[in-house]
Order: sequence, then C-alpha cells, then structure tokens
Amino acid sequence: MSPAGTPVDTLIGKARDRSAVFGIVGLGYVGLPLAMELVRAGYRVIGFDVNQRTVDGLNAGKSHIQDVPTQAVADAVKAKKFSATTDLTRMGEPDAISICVPTPLSKTKDPDVSYVLAATESVKRTLRKGQLIILESTTYPGTTRELMLPALESTGMKVGTDFFLAFSPERVDPGNPKYNTRNTPKVVGGITEHCRAATIALYQPAIDTLVPVSNPEAAELVKILENTFRSVNIGLANEMAIVCDKLGVDVWEVIEAASTKPFGFMKFTPGPGVGGHCIPLDPHYLAWKMRTLNYKTRFIELAGELNAEMPEYWVTKVANALNDQGKAVRGSKILVVGVAYKKDIDDIRESPALDVIKLLEQRGAKVSYHDPHIATLHEDKLDLKSVPLTAEALKSADCVIIVTDHTGVDYHLVAKSARLVVDTRHVLPRGSLT
Ligand SMILES: NC(=O)c1ccc[n+]([C@@H]2O[C@H](COP(=O)([O-])OP(=O)(O)OC[C@H]3O[C@@H](n4cnc5c(N)ncnc54)[C@H](O)[C@@H]3O)[C@@H](O)[C@H]2O)c1
Repeated sequence: MSPAGTPVDTLIGKARDRSAVFGIVGLGYVGLPLAMELVRAGYRVIGFDVNQRTVDGLNAGKSHIQDVPTQAVADAVKAKKFSATTDLTRMGEPDAISICVPTPLSKTKDPDVSYVLAATESVKRTLRKGQLIILESTTYPGTTRELMLPALESTGMKVGTDFFLAFSPERVDPGNPKYNTRNTPKVVGGITEHCRAATIALYQPAIDTLVPVSNPEAAELVKILENTFRSVNIGLANEMAIVCDKLGVDVWEVIEAASTKPFGFMKFTPGPGVGGHCIPLDPHYLAWKMRTLNYKTRFIELAGELNAEMPEYWVTKVANALNDQGKAVRGSKILVVGVAYKKDIDDIRESPALDVIKLLEQRGAKVSYHDPHIATLHEDKLDLKSVPLTAEALKSADCVIIVTDHTGVDYHLVAKSARLVVDTRHVLPRGSLT
C-alpha cells in the first residue's frame, strides 16, 4: 500500500468515486465502444481524434460504428458525459488516457507505428503529474517500454511515481452478439506495479474481468498470440480444404465430425482467406520483431502464405466451374455475394473479397457484388455499387461466388435462382447445387 495522497492513490480514489476523467485517443472500432463503456460506468470521457468528420458526427450525437448505437452516443453527449475534439492540446485534462490508434503494416509488411508515435507525442506535450497512459493498439512486444516510455520520460517525469504507463490490448470482436467490451476479459501489464494497479482500478467499473500480467511485454504478446493462434488454425483449416478437395472428401463433414471430440480439438473453418485489421496484420508485428533478433517465426509465415493464397484458390474454382459449362472467365458475369471481411459487419479492410474481385477482373470477368452492409466499394482500382439480390440478378450471372456469410442473405434464393454457385463458406442449404 502506498502512502495516502500519492498520485497512484489519488487515481485509485478517483476511480472509486468516478470523478476521474478519461481521454480516448482514436475513436474507431476500438476507441468508441470503450468510450461508451466508460461513460456507462459513470466516468466523463473526452474523445480525441484527428478526423474532423468523426468528431463532428459524434458531437452531433451520431455513431459511425455499427456496434455502438447512435442513441448511446446521443445520450452520452446530452448528459455531458462524452464530447469529442480534434484539439490534441487538451490531453492534459483527462486523468487516464487510452490510446486506440491504428497499427497497420507498411507496404513492405513491416509494422507502421507512426500513429502510436504521433499519439505519444501529443500525450507528451501536455503530460502532467498523476496521469495514467494506457496503450490499447495491437503492437509488437517492446513498443510500450521502448517507444513510449523514453518519449514520456523525456519530460523529466518518472514512470511509476509521477505518471503511469501500461499496455492493455483491446479484444473487441465487431459484430459479435455475445461478447462486447464489458464482458470480454481484459489483460493489463504495467511498467511498474503502480502502473498496473492504477489501470486495473480505473478499468474495473467498466470491465467485468481484468487479467493482470507481470509487464507490458507479456500483455503485448498475449494479443499477438491470440491472433497468431487464429491465423495458424485458419491456415490449417484452409490447407485441409485443399487436401480434402484433392482426395475427393467433404472437408466440412470431416471438420464437423472432428468437432464432436469433446476435448483436444477446436473447430476452425476454411474460407476465402482472412481479413480485417487484426489477423492478417498482427502476426507480422511479431515476425518483424523476431527478425530483429535473428529468429524466423515459421508458423506465422506459413499460415500467412496459406491464407493469402485462398482467393486465388477460389477464383480457380470459379474458372473450373465455368469451364465445366464450356465457358471462359473472360466475358462471364460473376456476382460476388458478401464483400465485408467477415459476417454481419460493414468493414472491408483487408477483405479477401477485394482480392477475389481483382483476380476475377484481371481474368476479364464482369464482376458485380451484393452486400447488405457495404453500399459502395471504392478501393484501389475498384469502383462498384452493391446490387440488390434478386432472382433476376442471380439468374443473369454466369456464376455466383459466396465470399462472406452474412446472416441476412437469402441463401435459399441463391440456391434456387443461380445457374452456378461457388460457396467458400458452406452456407448454401444442404442438398442444393454447389
Ligand atoms: N477493429 C478491431 O476489430 C480491433 C480489435 C482489437 C484490436 N484492434 C486494434 O486497435 C487499434 C485501433 O483499431 P481500430 O480498428 O479501432 O482503428 P480505426 O481505424 O477504426 O480507428 C482509429 C482512429 O484513430 C484516429 N487517429 C489516427 N491517428 C490519430 C492520432 N494521432 N490522434 C488521434 N486520433 C488518431 C483515426 O482517425 C481513427 O478514427 C489497432 O491497433 C487495431 O489493431 C482492432
């Protein structure tokens, strides 16, 4: 127990009576749900973002994130519990700041930590005694200690006594109806014991279960292990799909039967590849870090390769199916059903559908798409608009390829009306043509 009146005790006290003010830096898929959960717990939250449109929309009480109801934002703004700003010089106001900015890859697949560095710089400019800084963005082990700590300590303040620094990875799963920010356990690793204790105290009212670990590096690795685990197992499922195809065995029957084993097996399914801001990117953060230590992470590379090859595999399936009907891909009309990177969400980042469409277009196909969550597609060289999923649209396509298994799509209509269907997700009603 530290002496009363020290900065850590003040923070813990402010968590207890909810007088602490939170700052959320980056109001996207991760930042906005976290902000709303903190408001619900009783805190006042200031949202910081560099995007003026995002900030204006939120201050007008509108949500731009599918999982966050507009009403929740409107209520929080009205109650003066939430406001958003592009004025980063106000970062001295909050007692705790959670950084939720993007961590993409560069063109050469190296980590791009420029957003984390920019956010750290903004925090540093107004850092004051007693503030807690928590990095939420997924990144390689060492980022919090090696990049953020020296920048923040260059102010002359000392971590663990003057200010506090922790890493707590966000695990939000957009579109998941069961698990959200509150009921998903949250891992916390602090630079010092006080950093960890302060983070746990501040998050406790908003998050059901907190999982302390010894240091930020462990917390950083937890998140990358989780996503590498998914990438590797999806890669294995995808390889099984190719294996079964060559053996003339139904991969879905094999997976379903294997899943009846009550222990030692976890079900993963094959598909068109992986997408989103996490699975295709995060493992590369660790691979990069390990390259700097002269170690090659073989599972990561292999799973990445297997998953990245799946769009080509499915486009070949389309070509073969058309060929069986005496048609070429060139000039054929192909309707892609679902372009979001996973079901029931409106996010197309890294979606395998983008590769599927590009590969089909490269082969001369006339591609259109339907997605109930994505009205238009303006990506790289793509400029398409979602078409209604009618019997006519399905009948007029030479081939339909199901890429994303959205729940709202009428797959009976697809099975009944389409001339030819390639189903990458196994969603067509059993017994219908494939
Ligand atoms: N999307 C997910 O499902 C998910 C899940 C878990 C973890 N993550 C991780 O969380 C982090 C954020 O991802 P996201 O999907 O929320 O990203 P996002 O693109 O939806 O949101 C990021 C926001 O940060 C803002 N921003 C960028 N630079 C800024 C700066 N310097 N100062 C203030 N605001 C800034 C952007 O304008 C944007 O609004 C990433 O590291 C990601 O890997 C994402």
